Amino acid sequence: MSERIFIAVAWPYANGSLHLGQIAGAYLPPDIFARYHRTKGNEVLMVSGSDQHGTPITIKAGQEGKKPDEIAAHYHREFLESWQRLGISFDLFTTTGTANHAEVTQDIFRTLLKKNYIYKSTMSQPFCAQCQRFLADRYIEGTCPYCQSSDARGDQCETCGKPLSPAELVGPQCRLCGTAPVFRDSEHFFLRLTAFNDRLLDWIKQQTHWRPNVLNFSTRYLEEGLKDRAITRDIEWGVKVPVSGFENKRIYVWFEAVIGYLSAAKEWAKSSGDSEKWRSFWQDDKTKGYYFIGKDNIPFHTLIWPAMLMGYAGLNLPYNVPANEFLTIEGRKLSTSHNWAVWLLDYLARYDPDPLRYLLSINMPETADTDFSWREFVRRNNDELVATYGNLVHRVTTFTYRNFDGRVPTVGELDNRDKAIIKAADNALEAADGLLYRCHFREAIRTAISLAQEANRYLDNKAPWKALKEDRPGAARSLYTALCVIARLKTMLYPFLPFSSQKLHELLGFQGKIEERGWQPDPPPPGQKLLPPEPLFSKLDDKLVEEETDRLGQSYG
Ligand code: MF3
Ligand code: ZN
Repeated sequence: MSERIFIAVAWPYANGSLHLGQIAGAYLPPDIFARYHRTKGNEVLMVSGSDQHGTPITIKAGQEGKKPDEIAAHYHREFLESWQRLGISFDLFTTTGTANHAEVTQDIFRTLLKKNYIYKSTMSQPFCAQCQRFLADRYIEGTCPYCQSSDARGDQCETCGKPLSPAELVGPQCRLCGTAPVFRDSEHFFLRLTAFNDRLLDWIKQQTHWRPNVLNFSTRYLEEGLKDRAITRDIEWGVKVPVSGFENKRIYVWFEAVIGYLSAAKEWAKSSGDSEKWRSFWQDDKTKGYYFIGKDNIPFHTLIWPAMLMGYAGLNLPYNVPANEFLTIEGRKLSTSHNWAVWLLDYLARYDPDPLRYLLSINMPETADTDFSWREFVRRNNDELVATYGNLVHRVTTFTYRNFDGRVPTVGELDNRDKAIIKAADNALEAADGLLYRCHFREAIRTAISLAQEANRYLDNKAPWKALKEDRPGAARSLYTALCVIARLKTMLYPFLPFSSQKLHELLGFQGKIEERGWQPDPPPPGQKLLPPEPLFSKLDDKLVEEETDRLGQSYG
């Protein structure tokens, strides 16, 4: 029976270029998942957009002497180009700057206000006497009272991930001028998170299918007890507060960004011509919603957003939040400010998308941090993509093409070894299916690559190139068998390696999009005309390891 899957992807701040940490953490996994489910014939809606409000954007604008909307528009364009080139297949990638998003946000705000889940109160807010401004969120920095790291900001600690309020910071300072703030009273709206603590705890306890780190982190939090949180700010850039007297304040960026999951589904429905279509993804309780995020975003997706949804009522809660851990770069913590990062568009200017997708999948930070290194990139490309999978495909297709008139050979009965490798391929296809379904991406791709290794051994053993003269039907059988294994590999690797799988699909003589064939073994019919063989991947020079590692940590020229 076909399923309906809503895929919600973290909204990147439109204040900087994308780097591999974000790709491995939040953007590649949902794309793998979406391609898998589409191939399975399930109904998929995958949405996200640029998170373009709040202090992350105004700080960047201030640094560059630009307007916040120019910064947001610039990075939004860059994101769209990045998705297209890396093959991240959103159904909609919008922005939080649309009128639709503001309407949906204000509707939720008003409804929660009416239900008394949002209330007004006065709070003491940091104010910089030097800069003559309130210091919202990232404009104030200090030491985290929970983990003592000096990386904490007004709304969240960068190190331990705890949401914070400015008054909790130890030794707070104005980010712009370093002055210690004074505190002034200001009126704000608060989300009554305390009202949801018990319901959230009951709900979280049932989520035994969540990753242990996500479950533990969220449970620990609730056991300590949530605090009500301010959801408006003394800033000028953001969604307006729909209450008079609040014209100079804006809704807190996190409160509205998570609403983007809903507003984007509505926007997608409208532009599809059926403006009610979002409902089946949000109101049918058989639809499963998966939220793909990095671990720093966990509390917003497992606690705050679910609380907002519980308060609003009538919309689906997340089914799963498969948050990833972090990617380190050459053994060190990724840092954009020190340029200790690999920028996606730099990567794509020099190399193909699939080798990166491969490495980040086989090394995905699913349950622990993992490391990206250029040496490993070259090694896995050359040993696994080129010498294992690529070589299997290349020797089978070229040999068949040359000796069997460019067509899939017609064969008699397969022998036991032929049957065994096909059986192994069927098992791998089924195993990958189950693993992908449960978001175990790393294991799924490992299963596929071990099958390619096994198929190479089968082929070395059969040596059809030698058999050709004495036993042409035997050679035909082993090539046909290998083509059948390769066909299963193209299906199971498609979610990970969409470009090369599509190419292989065509080399095997199929037409149309691979996704449309469904999740199936897809053996090429005997007699089917092959395309002239071409290698799927190319070998990379070891030299690039040094060139690329040298770029790390360099300032931009
Ligand atoms: N912009 C946030 C970040 O980059 C993520 C927001 S996710 C959403 O960390 F919930 F707002 F969508
Ligand atoms: Zn200041």
